Amino acid sequence: MTKEEKDKGAEASAPDKNNSTAQRKPVAILGIESSCDDTSAAVIVDGILRSNVIASQSVHEEYGGVVPELASRAHQQNIVPVVDAALKRAGIRKEDLSGIAFTRGPGLLGSLLVGTSFAKGLSLGLRIPIIDVNHLHGHVLAHFVRESPDDVVPNFPFLCLLISGGNSQLVLVRAYNDMEILGQTIDDAAGEAFDKCAKVMGLPYPGGPHIDRLAAEGNPDAFHFSKPHIPGLDYSFSGLKTSFLYTLRDNLRRDPEFIEKNRADLAASLQKTIIDILIDKLSKAVDQTGVKTVAIGGGVSANSGVRAAVADFCERRGITAFIPKRSFTTDNAAMIAIAGYYKFLDKQFCRYDETPFARVTV
Ligand code: KG4
Repeated sequence: MTKEEKDKGAEASAPDKNNSTAQRKPVAILGIESSCDDTSAAVIVDGILRSNVIASQSVHEEYGGVVPELASRAHQQNIVPVVDAALKRAGIRKEDLSGIAFTRGPGLLGSLLVGTSFAKGLSLGLRIPIIDVNHLHGHVLAHFVRESPDDVVPNFPFLCLLISGGNSQLVLVRAYNDMEILGQTIDDAAGEAFDKCAKVMGLPYPGGPHIDRLAAEGNPDAFHFSKPHIPGLDYSFSGLKTSFLYTLRDNLRRDPEFIEKNRADLAASLQKTIIDILIDKLSKAVDQTGVKTVAIGGGVSANSGVRAAVADFCERRGITAFIPKRSFTTDNAAMIAIAGYYKFLDKQFCRYDETPFARVTV
């Protein structure tokens, strides 16, 4: 860790200059995430993660995708035990909390309503502020979740490649609360490309992790799929999806067992094409901004090939790469708690008449 990074860490968790450490009450933030199909609660005390509990919903598996109504009902069942477990694991009482951060959007409205309503109710009971967090900010700020005071966090400004099931964005991060989208997908997200191509191969939902696993055994140059020619820093993945589908259709006419015989090669070639598309625009964004640090976030940043390609790209360009722990790539409340922690320090609280919203940009 550089001295500058150490200073930043110390600054973030430093006690109020007017108070002595003995007088100062720790800043304890409960984070709540319920935007899609994971109910999660986390506790961050003075910038350090104390607990991060996630209840995933298996109820959607048989439907091949998330069913919004079932997701809301599962959140309702999970939220109390999940918050309770997060507080217990953190070793603090709810009366010791300083504020409650919750995901306000984007996401499924019914799911967001459960977390939002719970946060409002608990905060009214405890007489502490609520802090609304943009889910996408959370993914970016996941890099600031420290499990120990020695953990290294990125220096501003940095570029974040945010790749999930619903978004693919290149975000210039100037500060905790100052982010600019430099480019984003004009159609499908990278995660959708993984999931939809996996679906036509007969793989379960979500297909991304299955493609990742199969790709490790396949030849990435076995098949060639079309890449988009989109100006600027925007992404497009719908053409790749069509190209993949046509390759399967044409070959299945000749050989009905084509998918069976080529599963690993198809996965490896698809993954390589997605990575090439991602790295191409990332490289342009690094050139345009001159940043010295690149981070990745969102569910697709769990992909082994993406992680290796970004690390390799950064090494070649002599810049620092921040690759998140896999547990912080998919939806989790730790990232909501840390985003809420910084907003709390800035006294950016949320009013009780604010409502969740399904679509919102970074
Ligand atoms: O961020 P996330 O958990 O949910 C939102 O979209 O908000 O991302 C889910 C996406 C899915 O498309 C899933 O297939 C993809 O992340 N994903 C992966 C991997 N793990 C999750 N894609 C490729 N390789 C993986 N290992």
